[in-house]
Amino acid sequence: MTTTRWPLALDALGFGGDYNPEQWPDEIRVEDVALMREAGVNLVSLGIFSWATIEPMEGVFEWGWLDATMDRLHAADIRVDLATATASPPPWLTAQHPEILPVRADGTVLWPGGRQHYRIASPVWRRYALGMARRIAERYRDHPALALWHVDNEIGCHVPHDFSDDAAVGFRRWLRARYGTIDELNRAWATAFWSQRYSGFDQVLPPRTAPTYPNPTQQLDFARYSSDALLSYYVELRDVLREVTPDVPCTTNFMVTGPSTGAMDYATWAGEMDVVSNDHYVQAADPEPQADIAFSASLVRSLAGGAPWVLMEHATSAVNWQPQNRSRTPEESLRHSFGHLAHGADALLFFQWRASAAGAEKYHSAMLPHAGTDTERWRATVRLGGILRDLAELRGSRVQADAAVLFDWPSTWAAQLDSHPTNLVEPRRLAVALHRALGRRGVTADVVRAGDDLAGYDVILVPALYVVSPEGAANVAAAAARGASALVTFFSGIADEDDHVLLGGYPGAWRDLLGVRAEEFWALQSGEHVGLDDGSSGQLWSELVHALPGTDVVRRFAGGPLDGLPALTRRTVGKGTAWYLATWPSDEASLQRVVDLVVDGSGVVPVVPDLPPGVEVTRRVAADGRSWLIILNHTDAPAVLPVRGTPLLGAGDPNADTVAVAPGAVQVIRQTDDR
Ligand code: GLA
Repeated sequence: MTTTRWPLALDALGFGGDYNPEQWPDEIRVEDVALMREAGVNLVSLGIFSWATIEPMEGVFEWGWLDATMDRLHAADIRVDLATATASPPPWLTAQHPEILPVRADGTVLWPGGRQHYRIASPVWRRYALGMARRIAERYRDHPALALWHVDNEIGCHVPHDFSDDAAVGFRRWLRARYGTIDELNRAWATAFWSQRYSGFDQVLPPRTAPTYPNPTQQLDFARYSSDALLSYYVELRDVLREVTPDVPCTTNFMVTGPSTGAMDYATWAGEMDVVSNDHYVQAADPEPQADIAFSASLVRSLAGGAPWVLMEHATSAVNWQPQNRSRTPEESLRHSFGHLAHGADALLFFQWRASAAGAEKYHSAMLPHAGTDTERWRATVRLGGILRDLAELRGSRVQADAAVLFDWPSTWAAQLDSHPTNLVEPRRLAVALHRALGRRGVTADVVRAGDDLAGYDVILVPALYVVSPEGAANVAAAAARGASALVTFFSGIADEDDHVLLGGYPGAWRDLLGVRAEEFWALQSGEHVGLDDGSSGQLWSELVHALPGTDVVRRFAGGPLDGLPALTRRTVGKGTAWYLATWPSDEASLQRVVDLVVDGSGVVPVVPDLPPGVEVTRRVAADGRSWLIILNHTDAPAVLPVRGTPLLGAGDPNADTVAVAPGAVQVIRQTDDR
């Protein structure tokens, strides 16, 4: 991973949002900057969708408005995350070069009229995009407001997979590099099945809509290729920017949650970023969005190698793109913003600064709403700006985590392919639930891959990690032998990286570690439950599994065809413990009991003991040893925690033995001791 260049030449936590001045007349732009100052904004993302405004006709440039905006922002001491303006090709370009338009699996062309209507593999598109990035870089290379390059925007958001002829060419090139020979591809893709044997790479296509399930390894490789192709686009643009401005860091905003959340393997992307940034949007239907925020933010922190990161976008209230959008109170939004801060963000930015009056996003909330400054929302914006100013001392501090939840994009793609035992197993959902159960115990967890360095973790939870490499499997086993408590769930360690089943009894990769051997899956129907011998039940999954000698059976299936077979097992491995969970507890309390069992035996000390339900806490630690507790009270009752320290938000007694956090509120405690 390249060194993260931080802190972006900001002397405070970052605060701001996407700024789209091209949507407004000049007098509004003047007011914008005055109001940004009032709110304490110090960082804005500029120019993301501005290509057609900058270059309305090929070769005709109108830079004046952008020059003036950069100058005004600089005069107001606001730094700029300047975009390459490539996120939406201008109409003249697609009219002239319709061959850059992306294509769906069924052949549908995605036409202009929205945004991101380019195919990632098109050499024509790459040429134009690189040209635009270079022009912008050369124009603003010495501008004092420039702090960060924003490469394209949410790369892959709308078109994670392009099935065009250009994609076919790119895919074949990628496959040649991966396999070398067509025989090796035939082996990996198991093309003896259904008469799919190829005699040359030129016969291979993206997995376009077929009469029935396309080859699973072809699908998996196409997902890998697509993520790599999107990343190569980032790298090409970044290299141009680096060439022109070697000292300005580059990023592109990840979407570890979101519409295309699953399609990019950000674990392979993160090392190419100078600063890791992420966008996060709350799902209106999610009854407990703080769990997804905590998981996503922990995943981003882990991708950043523990370094501070930028929350590039979130919403002040409702979005516009869900079927029914939900507004949030200022307190709720503040807690959600703090969820990211608590998990390592050093900058909180929103989409967007001023609510659009027109266009597809006019009903998306903003820092400055349609109704203007005499609003709750604007006051909340000003308040958050003030709070972040007061918390400047947190800048650069890192979150401490004793546990890890394993998550791996390609494994998830493979696990969720068609024609499987069930389509109900979603590894990410299980990972969020396990992460949340740890959080309830006051245990902070990173989100990493099986092959990552696991040395710092005493608890390692492995939810439905369907594909694992031999090295990844051995790494988890070694962590357990060294003393960690590892919990592996069903549908983990089932297949190799070619999506071939590891034979001899499931889970082939971890049979020895766990001391279990499953003969057959018994996937459960939607809404079906299987009884367990502690009176609880399981859902989603069960299986015909045996405990091998030396493995304790902690819980058994009760009733039904698997009656008496193990559902939860434990085995001592070296200095540690390996647990296996063969079903998914039906209710949260039962899941919590399983996670509690694992944590209890691990020696992990919670950040705060006996955390009240609905209260989240993390610790951020500075390089010089100073530390802060960040407390989020998601309940409507006051929360009292047995911690000492100086409350940084509002009044509070630094000598008290407890800290009270008001209903729905947040607090930051500068710690005076380790309690
Ligand atoms: C994404 C995009 C933004 C905006 C928001 C709306 O994150 O990057 O341009 O469309 O969604 O939520």
